[in-house]
Amino acid sequence: MKNYLLFLFFALSPLLTIAQIFVSSEQTEKIPSYTLPDPLIFNNGEQVKTKTDWVKRRKEIYRAFETEVYGITPRWQGEVTSTILSTKNDLFGGLGKQKQIRVTFSKGGKNLSLTLLLFLPKQSKKAPLFLSYNFDGNHTTTADQDIIIPDCYMNNKPEIGVTNHQANKESRGLQATRWPIKEILSRGYGVATAYYGEIDPDFDDGFKNGIHQLFDQKRDSASWGSVATWAWGLSRIMDYLEKDQDVNPRQVIVMGHSRLGKAALWAGASDKRFAMVVSNCSGCSGAALSKRIFGETVEKINNSFPHWFCNNYKKFNSNEQALTTDQHELLALIAPRPVYVASASEDLHADPKGEFLSCVYASSVYELLGSKKFPATIMPQLSTPIYGHISYHIRPGKHDVTIYDWNCYMDVADLYLKRKK
Ligand code: GCU
Repeated sequence: MKNYLLFLFFALSPLLTIAQIFVSSEQTEKIPSYTLPDPLIFNNGEQVKTKTDWVKRRKEIYRAFETEVYGITPRWQGEVTSTILSTKNDLFGGLGKQKQIRVTFSKGGKNLSLTLLLFLPKQSKKAPLFLSYNFDGNHTTTADQDIIIPDCYMNNKPEIGVTNHQANKESRGLQATRWPIKEILSRGYGVATAYYGEIDPDFDDGFKNGIHQLFDQKRDSASWGSVATWAWGLSRIMDYLEKDQDVNPRQVIVMGHSRLGKAALWAGASDKRFAMVVSNCSGCSGAALSKRIFGETVEKINNSFPHWFCNNYKKFNSNEQALTTDQHELLALIAPRPVYVASASEDLHADPKGEFLSCVYASSVYELLGSKKFPATIMPQLSTPIYGHISYHIRPGKHDVTIYDWNCYMDVADLYLKRKK
């Protein structure tokens, strides 16, 4: 039997190789020829030569993302208040502590609240910290029975027991592999997390629920979509973190996976208080180049999630070449702060190569602002991270967040942030 299986393996392996070559050349052929805008050329064709020029050029690029992709975030003239709901001082045998805080946004007599879950290392007085939304509620990040279950609207997900748009205790700890809290605390970092649906529920309701209720807004084709509202929420949580005595507000890293990676990138581009930005498998309209038209495209994302972006973005359905910007320029908006882009080998929907190329093409801006050139032009081997002001890795496996990813992010944060006191 063993011999037979060995025979079968050797007989089939050339076929597998041929099949793989076929798949990869087919994929290469599918990429149209495309031209990317140069972040160091002004809209009028002039060259960006100095740091002062970049300040002006940055405004042009930011405007393009506001009007073509994410939409314009209205000015916030409200208030952010907080109440501590619980504290626990003995996490993991004294490694850390935990707090739950109700953060309330108020404007014009209207309020919206979310529950922020904070894990803090005991070893530092003012901790560096990762701020990252969760997909399914704080109670899914750890099995701890004391974590408050959100009572807001939630998209149904029968696989974790959400069937009537309401979270329940069945899903406690079900996403814990994405949140290796003990390992993060033992490296001296904290984590702040909140359920993203408390800012804006993730379905198309014509922009009425969630935070939209606090903005009496007449909408137009450049009004913000949900990704921008989630990014806005990250900034409001930052308003709170700036006041928390346990947190170092100069060492807050905004991080997100997938759609929440798109939001983390836009938050990092929009709010310079974030000291570092991490995009984990953010894909289309996150770190991946749109003009490559590989994996998820602008048309597909707009059709599946009509509420994520501004209405103008729909003009680029099957017309990516007309975008005046592309996602490498989103990374450039974060410069000179460190940005980390991570992909997973099986996550073709998110176009790992397009995510990598964004790093390559954002490099010129980082160099202008004094960083070293991003050292690669071809994709690195699996699990061979490139660390720098722009960092990148691709790990084996699927669309997910793993402890491998977290360890890489902490390596880079150790290099660039811990020095900032
Ligand atoms: C879908 C969507 C992606 C998104 C992902 C996620 O797959 O097409 O753009 O990143 O959901 O957020 O999990």
